[in-house]
Amino acid sequence: MDTPRRVEHQQTDRGYVPVYATGTVEQPWANYSPTDHEVWNTLYRRQRELLPAYACKEFLEGVERFGFGEGGIPRFADLNAVLGEATGWEIVAVEGLLPDEVFFDHLANRRFPVSWWIRRPDQLDYLSEPDLFHDLFGHVPLLLNPVFADYMQAYGKGGMKAHAIGPEALMNLTRLYWYTVEFGLINTPEGLRIYGAGIVSSKGESVYSIDSPAPNRIGFGLERVMNTKYRIDTYQQTYFVIDSFDQLFDATRPDFTPIYASLADGTAVAAAEVLDTDKVFQRGTREGFSSGSDN
Ligand code: PHE
Ligand code: FE
Repeated sequence: MDTPRRVEHQQTDRGYVPVYATGTVEQPWANYSPTDHEVWNTLYRRQRELLPAYACKEFLEGVERFGFGEGGIPRFADLNAVLGEATGWEIVAVEGLLPDEVFFDHLANRRFPVSWWIRRPDQLDYLSEPDLFHDLFGHVPLLLNPVFADYMQAYGKGGMKAHAIGPEALMNLTRLYWYTVEFGLINTPEGLRIYGAGIVSSKGESVYSIDSPAPNRIGFGLERVMNTKYRIDTYQQTYFVIDSFDQLFDATRPDFTPIYASLADGTAVAAAEVLDTDKVFQRGTREGFSSGSDN
């Protein structure tokens, strides 16, 4: 699986880092400052204390298996030994958000891009772009789950297809990612639990997504989700709940081409809306919802 790649160097906003020809970089582990490691330790400790009551067991098991802890920022090479063995996925270090096609190509080949840099101590609760803590702690534990691992690869392949079809198809697919991979909830015998990376990497939204009366919590439906706008500037107004990762994977197995075509004719559903056809776990009170616009 490891093809030798020639390491070059590139000057970036965040210093001088080695860059692979593919646009991935070598994790500059030796360059992390004591503050960087302390930020990891603090964020890790906060979520580790909170999540046993909020996150799904598959996520918590993943965190255990990787041996995340308060010993500073993990080395991707160590994690890759565990990950490769378990599901054949590999973490690659990147500078930040990637063009859609590049991102899809990574996923389709079972490579998960992780931003190598971590937020500053004054950004523990919020930052507007994904950093190492979000990408690694949020996304990577579930890549140890075989069904979720396959779902992520299928999403990457589906992304290349949607990209070729056009921007509207891509928007529908992006909504699916948003409401599952980033902000998904799962129904368990213990109650609703989090599996979405955007939630588990946020202390505030971890509590809000499960405990707040404000947002809607609605049963997952493929077309419903692909047709629903979302908020990028606030906690979510609606969370979609899956029954299992098998349900998610099975629902997304069909060819989306005709679904994209049928959705293109209608209007999208607003983020806060509840439809008559929804399976409602909780109708939100909408308390504190701001009037900004959806995406
Ligand atoms: N079945 C989807 C398609 O045909 C691909 C896909 C799978 C997309 C899983 C998302 C998640 O496009
Ligand atoms: Fe993410």
